[in-house]
Amino acid sequence: MSTVLLLGATSDMAVAIARKMAEKGNNIQLAARNANRLQALQSDISVRYNVNCTIHEFDATNFALHEPFYQSLSPKPCITICVFGYMSDNIAAIKNWNEAQKMINSNYTGAVSILNIIAEDYAVKKNGTIVGISSVAGERGRQSNYIYGSAKAGFTAYLSGLRNKLFHDNVHVVTVLPGFVNTKMTAELNLPPLLTANTEQVADAVEKAIRKKQNVVYVKWFWKWIMKIIKTIPENMFKKKKL
Ligand SMILES: NC(=O)c1ccc[n+]([C@@H]2O[C@H](COP(=O)([O-])OP(=O)(O)OC[C@H]3O[C@@H](n4cnc5c(N)ncnc54)[C@H](OP(=O)(O)O)[C@@H]3O)[C@@H](O)[C@H]2O)c1
Repeated sequence: MSTVLLLGATSDMAVAIARKMAEKGNNIQLAARNANRLQALQSDISVRYNVNCTIHEFDATNFALHEPFYQSLSPKPCITICVFGYMSDNIAAIKNWNEAQKMINSNYTGAVSILNIIAEDYAVKKNGTIVGISSVAGERGRQSNYIYGSAKAGFTAYLSGLRNKLFHDNVHVVTVLPGFVNTKMTAELNLPPLLTANTEQVADAVEKAIRKKQNVVYVKWFWKWIMKIIKTIPENMFKKKKL
């Protein structure tokens, strides 16, 4: 039985992943801001799956507290899943640095800060799995969301480098690129149903990626091919498109 830490556990995806990992017999540590919001989920997971489920206060942008947060966890998790993130309007973020900074810190800097600490511990133990939920938005910058996209691009590159480093320490790193998913984050958007996954599909993909030691995972297979095509469009053409 492993212990799984979910960072950003109030996220719709994280809730589905926590349930899936508990169903597979893992103990669960739920970490989020205002963690007492997770009490109902904690009780439900403990009773329904007969595993140990705990809740922990964690703010991705409170960097100074990341080390004490990790040191406070007992036992230390064998699997860490980094789910937190924040997306807002690109134009608002261009005009308001606080908003841009919030997107950069919530999707990139905060993840680097906490995962550096956890990765060091796993490297010493020569054991562990780290999963990062990044985004296809990081695969190529588009005018409609390049602040969020660039933060996710940084996170994807970070996970790639971390995977390369930690491979030599017997630690596995998974990058998840979900495509569109129906959650609170996208509730205001008109997502094309055929291209959109649900949170249970994300949870299945994450659990499988951990079990099979997959490296980079697209939740719906066709997103891999959509992004391959988007990446092959020459820059001279791409810059003229309204994407
Ligand atoms: N939905 C999609 O289509 C989609 C596609 C690709 C990637 N993603 C990524 O998937 C991940 C999960 O998102 P979601 O779709 O499940 O949306 P969500 O339900 O809105 O979850 C986002 C979570 O991030 C948490 N968070 C934000 N800032 C935080 C901070 N400073 N400290 C701790 N937690 C923080 C939020 O916690 P609070 O409850 O405290 O606000 C919220 O629970 C995100 O990284 C997102 O960027 C989503």
